[in-house]
This record gives sequence, C-alpha cells and structure tokens, in this order.
Amino acid sequence: MSKLTRLGLLTGGGDCPGLNAVIRAVAKSAMNDYGATVIGIEDGYEGLVLGRMRELQNTDVSGIINLGGTLLGTSNKGDPWHFPVTGAGGQVEIRDFSDRVVDHYRHWQLDALVAIGGDGTLNIAAKLGARGLNIVGVPKTIDNDLMATDRTFGHDTAVAVATEAIDRLHTTASAHHRVMVIEVMGRYAGWIALSAGLAGGADIILIPEIPFQWEAVYRKVRERSRHGKRFSIVCVAEGARCPDVGEIVKSFDVKRTDARQLGGVADYVARKITEATELETRVTVLGHLQRGGAPTPFDRILATQFGALAARLAAEGQFGMMTALRGTQIVPVPLQDAIAQLKQVPLDNPMIAAARSVGTCFGDA
Ligand code: F6P
Repeated sequence: MSKLTRLGLLTGGGDCPGLNAVIRAVAKSAMNDYGATVIGIEDGYEGLVLGRMRELQNTDVSGIINLGGTLLGTSNKGDPWHFPVTGAGGQVEIRDFSDRVVDHYRHWQLDALVAIGGDGTLNIAAKLGARGLNIVGVPKTIDNDLMATDRTFGHDTAVAVATEAIDRLHTTASAHHRVMVIEVMGRYAGWIALSAGLAGGADIILIPEIPFQWEAVYRKVRERSRHGKRFSIVCVAEGARCPDVGEIVKSFDVKRTDARQLGGVADYVARKITEATELETRVTVLGHLQRGGAPTPFDRILATQFGALAARLAAEGQFGMMTALRGTQIVPVPLQDAIAQLKQVPLDNPMIAAARSVGTCFGDA
C-alpha cells in the first residue's frame, strides 16, 4: 500500500521543451496509480520560499504533452540558501531562507517533492534532502550536462532546432560565399554544438572540451576557399574557450544560481576570422530559440517515462534518487551521482571521431 497522499512538484532553472510532458506524467501517474493529490509549486524554489502553490487537477495536466515552457513557471534565482531580496534602497541582499522551505513543505503536508531541473536545481534538491525532505529528482536541460543519465530531456529538441538552423545557414552561406558562425547554448559542455554540428555538416566545431588554435581555424576556411568551397559553417558552443581570451562571459548576475551568463563567442570568432583571412563573416546567435516550442517525440517519450518513474519512486519511498536513462532502460540512480560533477563531452566520444573522419575541424590540428 502506497503512503503517497500529497506530492509536491516543481520545475527549476532554465526551461526546456518537455517540462510540461513531465509535469503531466508525474501528476497523472500520482493521481491515477496512487490516488495522490498533486501540489504544483510555482516558479521553482522561488515558490517554495515564498509559499506559492496550487493543487493540480487532472484537467490542468491534460493536452499539454506537446507544449513548450512549463505551466508551473520556473526561475534560476530561487536558491533558498542564496535568495535575493531587494532592499528599500534598491540594493540586493542575499539571504538564507532554507528554513522557510522546510516550513512550507511541512505546512503543505507533502509526503515527497519531485524536483525537475538541471544541476543547479538538483544540487539544491540534494541539500533539501539533507534537511529531511523526501526528494525525487528528474533531470532536464538542453545542455545534456548531467552525470548518471545518458540523456536529459530537452536536449534532443535543442539539437533539432540548432540542426535546422545550420541547414538554413548553409544555403545562404553558399549563395554569398561567406563564413557563417553560429553560436549554440550548452554552458560548459559542448553536447549541443557537437551533435548539431555533426548533424548539420558544420565544417568547424568549437567546444569547451577541445582546446583550439586560431591558426587551425583560419587554415580550414582558407583551404575550403582554395578548393572551390567558397563558404564555411562554424558551429561554436557558447562555452568554447578562445586561445587568447578564454571563455566569453556576457554578464554577471549575483541573483542567479550560476552568476555567469555566457555569450558573445561567435562574434569574437567571426571577427578573428575576418581579420586573419579577409573572408566575409556573419554571425547567428541561436539563443533561447533552442529552449522554446514543442518537444520532439524523443523528448516527449523520455519525459513521460521519467515522470511515471518519479511518481513511482515517490510512492515507494525511494527518496534521494533521480530518474535516468541508461542505454534503453529508465532506472533510478542516486541523486548524488548526478550532481557529483558536470558531464562534459569525453574526448573519446564516437561523435568526435566520426566528425573528424568526414573532415570536420575542431581547431586542434
Ligand atoms: O542551462 C540551459 C541554458 O539554456 C544554457 O545553455 C545557457 O547558458 C543558459 O541556460 C541561459 O540562461 P538564461 O535563460 O538565464 O539566459
């Protein structure tokens, strides 16, 4: 007999396609299989600190599997241990409101909390577990940078969007004989750039895991020009480290769980290429297009399987666990394994070898 009566649910950090599909799956499984009441917490941990929640009905979670965003809202500024409060004079103060979170959890009589998020959200979830809350994690992020799962949902959609963008850039690049530099997201991991670059046939892929040299990049675009290919596509991860200036940070915001906002590397890469080769360059920064819109079928299926398992783990009292994809199986793994370190692209990843075989340059040779 399940002891699950009231289940809390939140989505934290940056949104990604598939969040609504998980919400739907967790809520429907909890209601249908265990007769539980589902409490949706608004805007991630912000709602848990500020006491914003609502009970979800079956009708709230119907017809949403294909919708981007999250019906619960999300935030990357709600870390209960690092909660920004704006004083009367407009100054931002960082406070510890973790006690409030524990109070709300108890007051709402939750038996468990499903935290759907990336490494920031899941790190906080693990800390809440240490404070006695019953936590189940679900891994989401377009970046695919979480350990202990082969995939996070949202990634497949982001790669599909970025691949389509590269396809479109190819035609205009070739028409105008230009070097097109496209910047994709991924923070400190190059999964999106590598996958979309490979799928879109990019000529140069620059990722944080592979240190590159400017000369190698110039050589590749010049070589292509010499051989009659008068255009090139460069797919650069926002976290790629330039040999002279390193990682390019657009802004800092102390309110965010991760204060550093990356961005701007494509502009820099394009400028360097033009200066060195005199070839004409153009820049596309794909940005949040990668996070918006409908999830792919893969992400919907993964999200639904993760959601159903999360409800089961909560009902069975398997706390401190996260849902994961291992091969073709959906399995529980310890939350701690997922947050121990970021999952960057290993240098022996077969996608790198395949890309090299078809002539893609990573700027390292
Ligand atoms: O983690 C997901 C992600 O989209 C990263 O790829 C990117 O660096 C970051 O979030 C952007 O965050 P924001 O939406 O706060 O600009």
